[in-house]
Amino acid sequence: MRSNYCGEVSESDIGKEVTLCGWANSYRDHGGVIFIDLRDKAGLVQLVCDPADSQSAHDAATTVRDEFVLIAKGKVRARGEGLENPNMETGKIEIIVDELIIESKSAPLPFVINDEKVGEETLLKYRYLDLRKKSSYESFRLRSKATIAARNILDANGFLEVETPILTKSTPEGARDYLVPSRVHGGEFYALPQSPQLFKQLLMVAGFDKYFQIAKCFRDEDLRADRQPEFTQIDIEMSFADQEDVIKISEDMLKAVFSACGHTIEAPFNRITYAEAMEKYGSDKPDLRYDLAMVDVIDIFANCSNEIFSSIAENKHHNRIKALKVPNGDNIFSKRQMKGFEDYVRKFGASGLGYFQLKEDGLKGPLAKFFEEKDLEEIIKATDLKVGDVIFFGAGEKKLVWDYMGRFRIYLAELMDIIPEGAFEFVWVVDFPMFEVDDGKVKALHHPFTMPRDLDKEYVEEIESIAYDIVLNGTELGGGSVRIHKPEIQKEVFKLLGISDEEAHEKFGFLVEALEYGAPPHAGLAFGLDRLMMLLTNSASIRDVIAFPKTQRAQCQLTQAPSGVDNEQLKELSIRIREQKKA
Ligand code: AMO
Repeated sequence: MRSNYCGEVSESDIGKEVTLCGWANSYRDHGGVIFIDLRDKAGLVQLVCDPADSQSAHDAATTVRDEFVLIAKGKVRARGEGLENPNMETGKIEIIVDELIIESKSAPLPFVINDEKVGEETLLKYRYLDLRKKSSYESFRLRSKATIAARNILDANGFLEVETPILTKSTPEGARDYLVPSRVHGGEFYALPQSPQLFKQLLMVAGFDKYFQIAKCFRDEDLRADRQPEFTQIDIEMSFADQEDVIKISEDMLKAVFSACGHTIEAPFNRITYAEAMEKYGSDKPDLRYDLAMVDVIDIFANCSNEIFSSIAENKHHNRIKALKVPNGDNIFSKRQMKGFEDYVRKFGASGLGYFQLKEDGLKGPLAKFFEEKDLEEIIKATDLKVGDVIFFGAGEKKLVWDYMGRFRIYLAELMDIIPEGAFEFVWVVDFPMFEVDDGKVKALHHPFTMPRDLDKEYVEEIESIAYDIVLNGTELGGGSVRIHKPEIQKEVFKLLGISDEEAHEKFGFLVEALEYGAPPHAGLAFGLDRLMMLLTNSASIRDVIAFPKTQRAQCQLTQAPSGVDNEQLKELSIRIREQKKA
């Protein structure tokens, strides 16, 4: 219907007849002449409805209200001197309308588009109105560019796009499953895939060599700013390939995706081992846009006369005493702030937070009296302190210390405003442990199909896996591993995980069986596409880059899902609902 997009009419069109379609963004009546800003996906343009040019267009314009859908025909002219609008891309021109068609009217909107004070529930209920804002279109334009770039580069590298089932069996990615009841097989359920993991491995056994999929995944887990119950992965798998092959294609793909979205990134990315990431940054997804690394001071604390610390220092396998240096911290933080920091770490289980300040006359702090002069000197040396610097230290069980000191590090960086804007800091975290022990139970840190390096270790926690994560600005963007392709290793891993033969057979029998029929060595990775786009568009929430997202409580405000179903449907599915307890 249109000859041009509103936002694309330019000075080169002056004198031309155009037909424009869009929404009335605003209208103003200036003494008989009506001005309407017409909006489409490309931007805004000013329509002028002057009765001197067209009485009928002016008459129609008098009835126009915000968000009416219009088709305007007219001529492009230069705006008069002094009437140009430098804030508008089309601000040098306007359209003299000679025909104005009102295609549809709009009820008054429930909120003003772009108003930042509107509550999230309302925005999600009227998502189609919220999506009218320019920044939304821009995010989805980039998302589309990103997926097309990913597809193209994977295609160019011989990857085959294959769709795997949505109605399937549970996949072990560590979250709860979404279940779908079967009508035909009453009392039985499909699970929605948490990832295409098992199917992509089967495609390698099939000899497809290189696979990818832009795959919908479903996980019933506690939601956060970077998690949704339903999300999308760029999922890849390759045969006769190792960690280096996966890292190479991943970096090439990310370069292509970022470039399609207007950013240049450099590869290869930095790498850090899991152990180093935990020891220095207290996290397996370190944000390396800023420094603030921790130093181990457990050996120095072993000598101090404070029994709490010296006894913690006795068990170096289980405990840590970590120091976090803030250059010039003494001049940055007030006494009150220093006290508040302790409250902050206590929220994450710390029993306290010690600190030292390096003054002109030496190391000071509440705990200095427990140390001999030579040990204080050691601390200064180990942390490379300058006068005015502060070190905070956490002591206790290592996982706890890593966790709260890691969080504290991020908290300080935000407080001190030292995170550079617009930076993309990628890092590969490699050499993950194969297992973690939680409440005495052995669990796979990635998933049970990850290839261990060497199973013969004293503690299961010491077994390493060939698994890698890609981290961007402190967010886990993707994760993958070399897979087990030998049935005997797979059985051994199931055994260590406490998965019995029957359970393995029941849950993943088809995969174990497939490994018996000539499985090639294979490896892969999956990126979280939504997270990638969230970071690429600098959005505060993953919801900004998902067209119809769910709330933190996993509800769709727009469709009101999940919702009840009628009894007939339940009966067909052999389901009876127990009375729900009121929340
Ligand atoms: P993993 O479980 O690490 O690996 O998932 C891969 C990536 O998917 C994204 N992601 C999510 N994004 C939004 N909401 C969620 N709830 C959510 N959960 C995960 C993250 C994450 O890094 N099968 C393996 C991959 C493999 O080994 O090839 C897997 O799914 O960005």
